[in-house]
Amino acid sequence: MEDYKKFYENKIVLITGGAGAIGSNLTASIAKLGAKLVIVLDNLTAGYEWNIPRLNNIMFVKGDIRNDVDLKRVFFEKPDLVFHLAAFFANQNSVDFPEKDLETNGMGTLKIFEYAVLNKTERVIYASSGCSIYGSQAPLPLKEEFMSMHLTTPYQITKMLGELYSNFFYHHYGLRVVKTRFFNSYGPGEVPGQYRNVIPNFIYWALNGLPLPITGNPEATRDFTYVGDIVDGLLRAGYYDNAIGQEMNLASGREIKIGYLAELVNNLTGNKAGIKLVGKRIWDTKNRLLASIDKARDLIGYKPVMDFEEGLKITIDWFRSNWDNIEKSASFPPGVSSAVR
Ligand SMILES: NC(=O)c1ccc[n+]([C@@H]2O[C@H](COP(=O)([O-])OP(=O)(O)OC[C@H]3O[C@@H](n4cnc5c(N)ncnc54)[C@H](O)[C@@H]3O)[C@@H](O)[C@H]2O)c1
Repeated sequence: MEDYKKFYENKIVLITGGAGAIGSNLTASIAKLGAKLVIVLDNLTAGYEWNIPRLNNIMFVKGDIRNDVDLKRVFFEKPDLVFHLAAFFANQNSVDFPEKDLETNGMGTLKIFEYAVLNKTERVIYASSGCSIYGSQAPLPLKEEFMSMHLTTPYQITKMLGELYSNFFYHHYGLRVVKTRFFNSYGPGEVPGQYRNVIPNFIYWALNGLPLPITGNPEATRDFTYVGDIVDGLLRAGYYDNAIGQEMNLASGREIKIGYLAELVNNLTGNKAGIKLVGKRIWDTKNRLLASIDKARDLIGYKPVMDFEEGLKITIDWFRSNWDNIEKSASFPPGVSSAVR
């Protein structure tokens, strides 16, 4: 086994948001690598208990990152590392509920850092968002040094705020923080819903025989990243010392057109209902997204391996084998269209 994987043997790891789309995959990976204990702290506002793997070394605490009682409970276990993934997700949700966004992504993140300092946690890995924090003026491929003052949703602002807090705690307290910037994650574990990403929503609608709504331009692109590749990047970020204090993109480095994605989902699911074009959302100002992954490769040896078409097939298989739970959990108010973030 590679050193960065072996590192997790016998570790105690706290994963906030561990019942969510990415967190549930990270929880499973770290538990299977032989961690002594993986603590999942999640308030289940957007995560599901059925999504947390049932393994003896996983402890689920239903609680909130803003609540001191819950934080004392999980830090009592003395985690060696914290992966901070809990967040109020994502753009449209934050436009509809900006105060809730700030409470979780701002205050919740601040508290995680404070508890990590008090408990002398070895390292905190912060889940930032590359699709959020670069704004829409940055040259492609998106590189880590670019800074935008023109973010278009409260979520984008608070994901950046988390990075700024990361920097403060790193410089002021010497807390070893790594900022990982994910790009449009997809894969098993993400349940569709009003505020979720385009891929789970497209698959859900396609499996229900519905036309796939494209908000805006079908030629727009996103850098869709398989959740397994993001998890591999996170495992590396928790291990390599030259990641400390740094920010890095975790992406696929490949651009996919939304129109092509819709066609592919319809083909793979046998959906005959086609697509429908619907209006663009005001905040959605990004036409293309493509990340440079050079920095993560150089610092932590990050190398995404999943082929997009294959990753979609795996995701559709996951939908089929978890259909009852997914149908029970997915929630869409009538007339709400897909979120291409
Ligand atoms: N999914 C993506 O494409 C993407 C892209 C960039 C960045 N990110 C970031 O990665 C992280 C994980 O994303 P995800 O897609 O798994 O999101 P998710 O919504 O599936 O998971 C977040 C989890 O946090 C939990 N949560 C929310 N508020 C909480 C609170 N106050 N206390 C405790 N738990 C709380 C939710 O119940 C959920 O299970 C987030 O920080 C997100 O901002 C995700």
